[in-house]
Amino acid sequence: MGLLDSFEFILPTRIKFGLGVAGQLANELEALGARKVLIVTDRGIAGAGLLDRVTESLKGKVEFTVYDGVEENPKDRNVEEAAEFARRNGADCVVALGGGSPIDAAKAVCVLALQGGRAKDYKGKGKIKDKCLSLVTIPTTSGTGSEVTFSSVITDTDENYKFTIKSPAIAAKVALVDPELTLTVPPAVTASTGIDALTHAIEGYTANVTEPIAEALGLYAIELIAANLKEAVHNGNSIEARTGMMLGSLLAGLCFSHSDVGSVHCMAEALGGMYDAPHGLCNAILLPYVMEYNLPEAEYKYARIARAMGIENGDDKQAAILGIEKIRKISKDIGLPSFKSLNIREEDLEELAGMSAENISTDSNPRRIDKQGYLALFKKAYGARY
Ligand SMILES: [Fe+2]
Repeated sequence: MGLLDSFEFILPTRIKFGLGVAGQLANELEALGARKVLIVTDRGIAGAGLLDRVTESLKGKVEFTVYDGVEENPKDRNVEEAAEFARRNGADCVVALGGGSPIDAAKAVCVLALQGGRAKDYKGKGKIKDKCLSLVTIPTTSGTGSEVTFSSVITDTDENYKFTIKSPAIAAKVALVDPELTLTVPPAVTASTGIDALTHAIEGYTANVTEPIAEALGLYAIELIAANLKEAVHNGNSIEARTGMMLGSLLAGLCFSHSDVGSVHCMAEALGGMYDAPHGLCNAILLPYVMEYNLPEAEYKYARIARAMGIENGDDKQAAILGIEKIRKISKDIGLPSFKSLNIREEDLEELAGMSAENISTDSNPRRIDKQGYLALFKKAYGARY
C-alpha cells in the first residue's frame, strides 16, 4: 500500500492494559448493563485457579454461570453446546477467559446464542447480519491477540478442517489485558504462544492487504516480542518480560486483525484441523520456511523486521536473511521442537497443501503461492533434520 492510498481503521474494543486490571471485571460488566453473564473457559484455566480468581471478584455483584468445555483448537461442538447453554440460562453477556481457544469459541457463542444455527453457517467474512451478545475478553496467554481481533477460528469436526468467522461484529466490547494472569503459564506454552504472536506481527506487517496503522503496530510488536520472549520462557516470574510479551501480543493482534495473516497460518491451520496440532507450535516451526519463500517479494519489510529485532549490520538483503536466522535461533533457544515431533504422515502432505491453498488468507501472503508451493514448503519442513 502506498502513502497516498486511503484506508480505514476500526476498533470497537475498549482496551484496559496493566497489572491487576482483570480485577475490574465486575465494574466493566455493570457498565455494560450485564445481568446474567456466561463465562466461557477451559478446564486448564479452571485447574490453574484463574477461574476462581475471576469468579471470586464477581460474587455478590454479578450473576454468572460457567461453561468450561472448550477444547484446544476449539470445536464447532463446543461452540454450539455453549450457545445452547447461554440461551437456557438467559445470558446477556459473555466473558471469555483463557488463551485463544476459549476466546475464539466465545466470539462464536456470542453470534450463535442470539442468531442460532451452526458455527459453520457464519464461515467467512460478512455473514453476521444481526446483533450478537456483548463480549468481554480476558486473555491468560501472550499469543493469540484474540482479545482484540475480529476473527474466530473454529474446527469443523465433520470434515476436520479449520474455518474462520471474520467480522467487527464479534469483536469484544472490552478487553482486560492483565500480564499478572500469565505469570503461571508454563515455559513450553509461553514459547509456542509467543512465537504465534511474533507470527501475527510479521504476517500482519507484511500481508499485501496491510495498512499504515497495522504496519506500525506490527513493527513495535516485533521489537517487544524479540526483546522479551526468551526471558519470559526462562524466567516466568519476570513481570517485566511477561508485560512486554503481553503488550507485544496485544499489538500483534491489533496488527493482523486490521491486515491479515499469511501462508504460515494457512499451513498451521491445515495442520491444526487435520491433526489437532497446537497452533503456536505449528506456526513456530513453519515461520522460517515461509519467510525464506517470501524473501524475494518482502526483502525491504523483512529487513525492517530484522532491525526491529536489533540487527544493525548489512544491506536490506543481508539484514533480512540475518533476521530469519535470528527467528530460528530464538525458536531453538526457547526449546521449540521440530516438525518431526508433530508426527505428520508424509502421505498427508499433499492434502495439507491443498487445504492451505484454499485458506482465505492465502491471497494475503506477500508472495503468490499455490498448492504446489505449499507442498514444497511442507516437504522442506518434513525433511529437515532438526
Ligand atoms: Fe495465530
